[in-house]
Amino acid sequence: MLKKLEHLEGAIQEKIDGIKDLASLNDLRVKVLGRKGEITLLLKEIKHLTPEERVHTGRLANEIKTNLEKLLEVKKQDLEQEEINIRLLEEKIDITLPGLPYINGRKHPLTRITEEIKEIFLAMSFSIAEGPEIEWDYYNFEALNVPKDHPARDMQDTLYISEDILLRTHTSPVQVRMMEKTAPQLPLKIIVPGRVYRRDDDATHSPMFHQVEGLLIDEHINFGHLKSMLLHFAQHVFGEEVKVRYRPSFFPFTEPSAEMDISCVNCKGSGCRVCSQTGWLEILGAGMVHPQVLEYGGYDPKKVNGFAFGMGIERIAMLKYGINDLRLFFDNDHRFLAQI
Ligand code: FA5
Ligand code: MG
Repeated sequence: MLKKLEHLEGAIQEKIDGIKDLASLNDLRVKVLGRKGEITLLLKEIKHLTPEERVHTGRLANEIKTNLEKLLEVKKQDLEQEEINIRLLEEKIDITLPGLPYINGRKHPLTRITEEIKEIFLAMSFSIAEGPEIEWDYYNFEALNVPKDHPARDMQDTLYISEDILLRTHTSPVQVRMMEKTAPQLPLKIIVPGRVYRRDDDATHSPMFHQVEGLLIDEHINFGHLKSMLLHFAQHVFGEEVKVRYRPSFFPFTEPSAEMDISCVNCKGSGCRVCSQTGWLEILGAGMVHPQVLEYGGYDPKKVNGFAFGMGIERIAMLKYGINDLRLFFDNDHRFLAQI
């Protein structure tokens, strides 16, 4: 019995040494220490021994059992550590590999121009105002001195939601909306960026486009104030060397009215295809606010006056970035957008 025990211990130790994975180790544990394991079966036989032998053999058998349990546990920990080491090795990150390219988003050119225009006028203490894109006929036309049968409506046809409600054709309706809120306080000094809609569709006119309106109402405002601020604006956007000129024009809501041109950004004024050989490019409409409009807004035209202007953002972006088709802004083609 003693011999058997010692022999078994040696054999099992050898087996434990030879084991290479946790599953086999567990199999061996069951085979040795399980309910029908080799050691367990041997221990059962002890009861057939004489009492003296029993004490001695029993103690030895228990020692061997504890020893084997320890060996199995140590082996188990070794194997587990080994497994972790292998996993760590497999999961090692090779930082010498080049990274995957990451494409950064960027602001749409129209957003960038709008932000630049806002900055320029905010620095001249204008505030930013907004108005609805679905507008009353009253604010879009009537209060701007354009009655129902006025021919100026023909140039700004739009989608009518009802007789009195339409998609606004310009940002000018916000003029009277803001006057109503502010009058009779002075000064009223706002710019109004926003989307507008017209029945237009060609390379330089789209059915939806963006404008920035400007409005300043105070005492003793004259055309010189308008010219100096718009020159500052043009030089900021197109560079110090840009020249501006004014041509007489007509808007029912300003008197006098003018359109401002800038010297051609392409040929610097000598004449080319971009400016139809004139050397000049139109960028905005402007004028002194019509007394009738001041009255609609709640101001007394005998006491105050002001100027207003309205520019097309797409137009300015096209000139600044040298883009020849306005529709590119709305195609969302990444190859185009990534260039600016
Ligand atoms: C107006 O809309 C006036 N409200 C501007 C104004 C404001 C005058 C305040 C006086 C005082 P006009 O229709 O010319 O004016 O349009 C202004 C600018 O919008 C044009 O110079 C042009 O740059 C741009 N624009 C007009 N129609 C389109 C279109 N379909 N697509 C893109 N840009 C357009
Ligand atoms: Mg015009």
